[in-house]
Amino acid sequence: MKKLVLTGAAGRLGSYLREPLTALCDNLVSTDIVDDIGTLYAGETYVKADLAQMDQIAPVVEGADMVLHFGAIVDEKPFEELLGPNFVGSYNIWEAGYQAGVKRIVYASSIHAVGMHLKSDFIGIDAEHRPDTFYGLAKCFTEDLGRMYWEKRGLESVHLRILSCAQVNNTRALGSWLSYPDLIHLVTRAIDTPSVGFA
Ligand SMILES: NC(=O)c1ccc[n+]([C@@H]2O[C@H](COP(=O)([O-])OP(=O)(O)OC[C@H]3O[C@@H](n4cnc5c(N)ncnc54)[C@H](O)[C@@H]3O)[C@@H](O)[C@H]2O)c1
Repeated sequence: MKKLVLTGAAGRLGSYLREPLTALCDNLVSTDIVDDIGTLYAGETYVKADLAQMDQIAPVVEGADMVLHFGAIVDEKPFEELLGPNFVGSYNIWEAGYQAGVKRIVYASSIHAVGMHLKSDFIGIDAEHRPDTFYGLAKCFTEDLGRMYWEKRGLESVHLRILSCAQVNNTRALGSWLSYPDLIHLVTRAIDTPSVGFA
């Protein structure tokens, strides 16, 4: 691919993804709201942009083959604080992606989209949305946004419901753990699988 865009590039998961993503494209455009993300990898450029501002996001997405959407506020916050980055930000990525003819968006969703299911229910990926927070509600919104843009407009997306991608330091955490190498593997497969529709 010629161009991939990674949002949330300054974040924890974004930082692990940047280098492997440069191997998949001529130009990785990393973006975040911070001023600087440090030393860039070969083939990588950095653009500061606020997800909530369409006039900043649209030029970043222009010409991209795919977008890896990992930027967000990552804690539960009052709805008003999440509205811009997590709700409007997702809309901006999908609408800008559609306008630019992007093939696919890979999205970092979360277990919080279905967090009100009981632990004893052992749910699968077909479980209905039952968000446990406004943060989880934004994940539900974005998953539904992805489904709508696929079904009405043919823009593919993969929504990765990550449970916990972090260093593991206790036995209980193993049950929800996604290791960093597995994250890279998962995102790579979400990119190079030929056809995904809405997944
Ligand atoms: N880490 C996990 O275990 C986990 C679990 C489930 C889902 N996720 C999702 O994965 C993604 C990345 O998570 P992370 O752990 O790397 O979090 P992080 O907080 O380290 O990274 C998020 C990045 O988004 C950026 N951001 C916030 N508001 C922005 C805005 N208005 N415009 C542009 N950029 C903005 C931040 O500056 C930050 O660099 C998030 O969408 C998160 O919800 C992570």
